[in-house]
Amino acid sequence: MSTIEIKNLTKKFEVEGHVVTALDHINLSIEKGDVFGIIGMSGAGKSTLVRSINFLERPSEGDVLIDGVNLADLTEKELRKTRSGIGMIFQNFNLLEQKNVIDNVCFPLEINGVKKKDARKRAKELLVLVGLQDKEKAYPSQLSGGQKQRVAIARALATDPRILLCDEATSALDPQTTSSILALIKQINEEMGITVVIITHQMSVVTDICQKVAIIDSGRLVEQGPVDKIFRNPESDAAKELISGKEIRYTPVRDLQSVRKIRIVFQENSAYEPVIANTILELGTPVNILKADTRNVGGRAVGEMILGLPEGEEIQEAVIGRLKASGLAVTEEETQSVSLSPDARRPVSPASAGTTEVEHE
Ligand SMILES: Nc1ncnc2c1ncn2[C@@H]1O[C@H](COP(=O)(O)OP(=O)(O)O)[C@@H](O)[C@H]1O
Ligand SMILES: [Mg+2]
Repeated sequence: MSTIEIKNLTKKFEVEGHVVTALDHINLSIEKGDVFGIIGMSGAGKSTLVRSINFLERPSEGDVLIDGVNLADLTEKELRKTRSGIGMIFQNFNLLEQKNVIDNVCFPLEINGVKKKDARKRAKELLVLVGLQDKEKAYPSQLSGGQKQRVAIARALATDPRILLCDEATSALDPQTTSSILALIKQINEEMGITVVIITHQMSVVTDICQKVAIIDSGRLVEQGPVDKIFRNPESDAAKELISGKEIRYTPVRDLQSVRKIRIVFQENSAYEPVIANTILELGTPVNILKADTRNVGGRAVGEMILGLPEGEEIQEAVIGRLKASGLAVTEEETQSVSLSPDARRPVSPASAGTTEVEHE
């Protein structure tokens, strides 16, 4: 049984006499403990979808089941209870500006009738968790964006939710703050077993912490699956547009038309090491990276490269053997020219390849 099941979900809005279909027959299952990404262009329907998960938007058609319970079957009171088990954070934090940090975190508890003393105790624990124990008395206007989002996370966790919905939660933050907030969300997922749904237009957010991803385009779900699979091989036009061209790098080196070429594939179980650099250093031979299409997925390189091997069968076999020993899949490439630019005729030397940057962007 999935934590979140979205069945045939359609949401239509009537705007000035005409109907906008924000979601069009969406089917999606999110399993307990997932960190699930939902990506799409602006206006694709992401926020409407995430708001439908807790019935802030009522579907025009279709169903939402949380832990097997159909939200449409619930009374208002039961729905409020279910909603308190679903935390939510937003791009603009939505803190109460006139309340200080601890009162913001206590707020959902007090609404739920928790005694003030108990609410404060819980809030203090949560502020420790998010690293803001020394900001209890501060007001939102005195905090940085990252600190505000930490308060919002503490507030979202106050009612012990099973699910955390994040709608563009890092979109207003700089890259470094984004990383620290994503690390916190990952920690919450792992340590508290909370299912996380991440809505974002930033691909790096997905590759950083999501295991699965769904792509929506004009209200339709066009593709879904494991992040590494979709990012390695996007099939839908929307996925290609979102993913391709962003992180793909071509490093043409020189025309190796007559030289042996191999394709190597970095998989999930590939060794966690700068394989190319180590191969070059250990064998004392240059290897030409003709094409690189790798990206960082959960801290390791996933994707493929085409390498031009040095001349001489013995050294070629040594390179292939070394790469295979690191768990890489190696196949021969046809010796046709890879598109090359004449100004980049520099082989990768041990000096320039001695960092992980060759494989980890
Ligand atoms: N309350 C609303 N009333 C009318 N139209 C809406 C409403 N909410 C969203 N929409 C429309 O639904 C579509 C999807 O919006 P949204 O879910 O906010 O997309 P995203 O979050 O992917 O940018 C857009 O065309 C938007 O204008
Ligand atoms: Mg949105």
